[in-house]
Amino acid sequence: YQWNSNLCANHGGQARRSVTDLKKPLIHARITDMSQKRVLSGIQPTSDSFHLGNYLGAVKQWVELQDSHDTFYCIVDLHALTIETDPTLLRQRTLASAAQLLALGISPDKATLFIQSQVPQHNQLGWIMECLAGFGEASRMTQFKDKSAKVGSDSARVGLFTYPMLQAADILLYQANLVPVGEDQRQHIELTRDLAGRFNARYGDTFTLPEAYILKEGAKINDIQEPTAKMSKSSGSVAGVIEIMDSPDANLKKIKSAVTDAGREVKFDPIEKPGISNLLTIHSSLSGISISQIESDFVGKGYGDFKAAVADVVVEYLRPIRERAQELLLDEKHLLSILHSGSEKARTVASATLD
Ligand code: TYM
Repeated sequence: YQWNSNLCANHGGQARRSVTDLKKPLIHARITDMSQKRVLSGIQPTSDSFHLGNYLGAVKQWVELQDSHDTFYCIVDLHALTIETDPTLLRQRTLASAAQLLALGISPDKATLFIQSQVPQHNQLGWIMECLAGFGEASRMTQFKDKSAKVGSDSARVGLFTYPMLQAADILLYQANLVPVGEDQRQHIELTRDLAGRFNARYGDTFTLPEAYILKEGAKINDIQEPTAKMSKSSGSVAGVIEIMDSPDANLKKIKSAVTDAGREVKFDPIEKPGISNLLTIHSSLSGISISQIESDFVGKGYGDFKAAVADVVVEYLRPIRERAQELLLDEKHLLSILHSGSEKARTVASATLD
């Protein structure tokens, strides 16, 4: 399959305006119906499966917001190029990402689901954002510092450094009001607001200032083997990451061998009991049962019983999602047609802003 060929060739990514066109008022991409605020968010297709952190920190909110908001969700394949990437694998993972998002509840009838590289306006506005950002403020991005420290500054790509400015373009092109993300993205959204404010002040009111939409519960799901560190696709600990596409057996084993803390009491205390608190958050976010209720249900019982219950909640929650994603992946044509029409709609909005 080739999703780039005719779409990009036909549209060229440019919303060209002839001289006579320039006299006409701009089609404004900002929404005028304030009852439906706009939402944009993105996810990288950098692994075969999303993990529970991606779902609880972000995608679960994406699904909820699609009922009440004008939602745009983007598989950010250009951002995935900031690390060494095999092209065939990237294509597969982009499709697998779409299948998982649909299986997790994103509905193409409600939300616009698209691929970043299908909308060249992202690169175009990205450059403008890079020319607006200071080297110092970009250097302060903690994700860049962490990721570049891992590979060493000689191996880190320039794209890893300019990544947040492309992310700002992703958001500002859609005049998004809200950006549902996990806690680790807060700084990038702050930078986006700064860049939008700076642009508006210098060149006239153009961009909506977006707000990060970060829930208290689930905003940072930790690795279940190393419960003080974030659950992460790039983390070394396979055993600590619960993947949506893992088999029920594999996830059961992982949760049963999750690291716990000193003592026996099932109690939410992120400082003294980071392992148990993380599992409580996971249980509560998926089951909908409050943390205090779960605590009382396990009074007098040990960590073993509690982990078995968490495993049960996670495995049964993910089972139909994994099956649905596998089913969707069998019909590539259908997936591609959803992504093509999403990308077409995204280009219309993005080119109006860029204009
Ligand atoms: P990415 O692909 O790393 O993660 C996707 C989303 O999952 C959230 N997340 C977590 N939430 C809670 N606990 C965790 N352990 C956890 N790990 C990941 C992330 O916060 C994110 O919301 N830069 C972004 C992608 C991006 C984007 C955008 C996001 C590109 N353009 C525009 C919003 C708007 C990223 O790398 O996410």
